[in-house]
Amino acid sequence: MSDTAIVVEGLGKTFGSVVALRGVDLEVPRGSVLGLLGPNGAGKTTAVRIMTTLLRPDTGRVVIEGRDVVSDPDGVRRVIGLAGQSAAIKEELTGRENLVFTGRLYHLPMARCRERASELLERFDLSDAADRQARTYSGGMQRRLDLAASLVAEPPVLFLDEPTTGLDPRSRIGMWSVIRDLVSGGTTLLLTTQYLEEADELADQIAVIDHGTVIASGTSDSLKDQVGGDVIEFDVPDRRAIRRAAEAVAGLSDVPPVIDDDNSHVTVRIGRRGSQALIDAVRLVDQAGVEVSGLAMHRPSLDDVFLTLTGHAASPAPDDAAGSRRSRRSRRRREASGGRSQ
Ligand SMILES: Nc1ncnc2c1ncn2[C@@H]1O[C@H](COP(=O)(O)OP(=O)(O)OP(=O)(O)O)[C@@H](O)[C@H]1O
Ligand SMILES: [Mg+2]
Repeated sequence: MSDTAIVVEGLGKTFGSVVALRGVDLEVPRGSVLGLLGPNGAGKTTAVRIMTTLLRPDTGRVVIEGRDVVSDPDGVRRVIGLAGQSAAIKEELTGRENLVFTGRLYHLPMARCRERASELLERFDLSDAADRQARTYSGGMQRRLDLAASLVAEPPVLFLDEPTTGLDPRSRIGMWSVIRDLVSGGTTLLLTTQYLEEADELADQIAVIDHGTVIASGTSDSLKDQVGGDVIEFDVPDRRAIRRAAEAVAGLSDVPPVIDDDNSHVTVRIGRRGSQALIDAVRLVDQAGVEVSGLAMHRPSLDDVFLTLTGHAASPAPDDAAGSRRSRRSRRRREASGGRSQ
């Protein structure tokens, strides 16, 4: 068998006049995590629904563990689990009953269903609420139960459509650790998210999707390199010295430093030269006799990547105040650099 668990080629899907997917290609090696990252309406759920046999593609093909989603949907269903964007749990059943019920759908013997239910309730911190109707669960508990349900049959390939949207930061981090455990056990995972940070945390490879097309893919680091690699930034309290400071560090980069006169701030992109460039920067400004403050090096965020690639922010959900703050910050940075990064 090949080492690729998920192959997607030329996937296209149109709803009336809306083109949801226009030729998406993806490949997910077995045991790895692909993060499908994109804003609202990018086509993430449509792609997941096709990959999980819930929707037929107009064009292209999807093969999961050697099984084609169109010609062998039952075969595909046997090897996949899905936690969709909206929880698919039955509210009138208890948490435990939901898991047992799901196990029965997969034709697991009753004893095995009960055993899996107890294991998963424990793992998802739902044991105390196990015998309460799911309607009494909080949103976060319902999402955890939904994810637990997708794991009852221990599928080798798992699809999670925005697994942490709507969770508070603590629950999100809890969910990340559960997902990491799963992956360390060898599960192949395709995860969609609007959260750059989440893709950064969990995904081995990231495919950035916008308007139904994959506009970039690679590791988080390689995507960050596409926007120019690491950045050194500093302030120059004496505004008259700012040009001298910028000239001093110009040799660290192939592109000229960006001077933000309004904020008396200098930014220089240093690629992957690492901390030696930081040491050099300190020495160079010192030799030039310029006093600087706040000199620091940072990796671009995936937020910067998204903004550079698409020209718009990754539209974080309204509850993601930190995400909005990050977007605003990087927008300001971009404006400060005169939109150079585009
Ligand atoms: N059943 C449908 N009928 C009509 N249009 C649809 C249908 N499903 C999706 N679309 C449209 O296809 C496009 C892609 O939608 P999709 O749900 O795949 O996006 P998404 O990336 O999952 O977005 P979100 O982050 O909001 O979940 C959107 O323009 C959406 O309105
Ligand atoms: Mg969606």
